Amino acid sequence: MSSILRCEKLSKTYIEGKMRTPVLHELSFSIQAKERVAIVGSSGSGKSTLLHILGGLDQPSSGEVWVNDQPLSKMSDNELSSMRNHYLGFIYQFHHLLAEFTALENVSMPLLLRKMPVKLAQEQAASVLKAVGLEHRLYHRPSELSGGERQRTAIARALVTQPLCILADEPTGNLDRHNAEEIYRLMLELNQEFSTSLLIVTHDYNLAAKMDRVLSIQDGIIE
Ligand SMILES: Nc1ncnc2c1ncn2[C@@H]1O[C@H](COP(=O)(O)OP(=O)(O)OP(=O)(O)O)[C@@H](O)[C@H]1O
Ligand SMILES: [Mg+2]
Repeated sequence: MSSILRCEKLSKTYIEGKMRTPVLHELSFSIQAKERVAIVGSSGSGKSTLLHILGGLDQPSSGEVWVNDQPLSKMSDNELSSMRNHYLGFIYQFHHLLAEFTALENVSMPLLLRKMPVKLAQEQAASVLKAVGLEHRLYHRPSELSGGERQRTAIARALVTQPLCILADEPTGNLDRHNAEEIYRLMLELNQEFSTSLLIVTHDYNLAAKMDRVLSIQDGIIE
């Protein structure tokens, strides 16, 4: 089996002036194709920090990350963006939708970045928005959506490219039980159908129990 995502001796200390905040200490693990992994840990334990570094959105203080066997430290910003667009689907803890665009446009965006024709991109985006239960909200802007609807739009945007690996930071934190379960079902379907690996930060023990493996972060190390 090939590893989709791998990190070795990953450390992160935030430094702001004289303030040093050590967060991650020499984490090493890998995620194989099709593998489903949950990350759990208390608030402030470094789960979002880890996910951002794995997705090339933040840099480690030391250590290395490989996505599809490519080391991120060697990539330019453009190469990092392209890597994310082609291999990863990132679902942020806070949705990060573009305010001036509709749900349909937000979800089409990753496909347009791949130079897909607009009509086709919008068809595919509409179909994923339908799958997350938002077929009646295609032309709403984020400010015109509820919190849960925004989160579902952000999830659709991460799924639309059928990435090799989904990195999700408490993707269902804003959703009720029913919607949360629908989203999990969708992710697990993708996992089965397209062998998409899942790395999901969650406080939800029901979800964690459905994964192949649970990584528990405590004091900057994996238990
Ligand atoms: N830019 C920053 N500068 C300094 N410290 C930071 C910075 N970003 C995060 N931290 C600190 O790093 C620690 C880990 O933050 P992180 O957001 O990764 O936690 P988390 O596990 O995702 O928590 P939560 O479950 O609350 O989302 C926290 O104690 C936080 O205060
Ligand atoms: Mg977090």
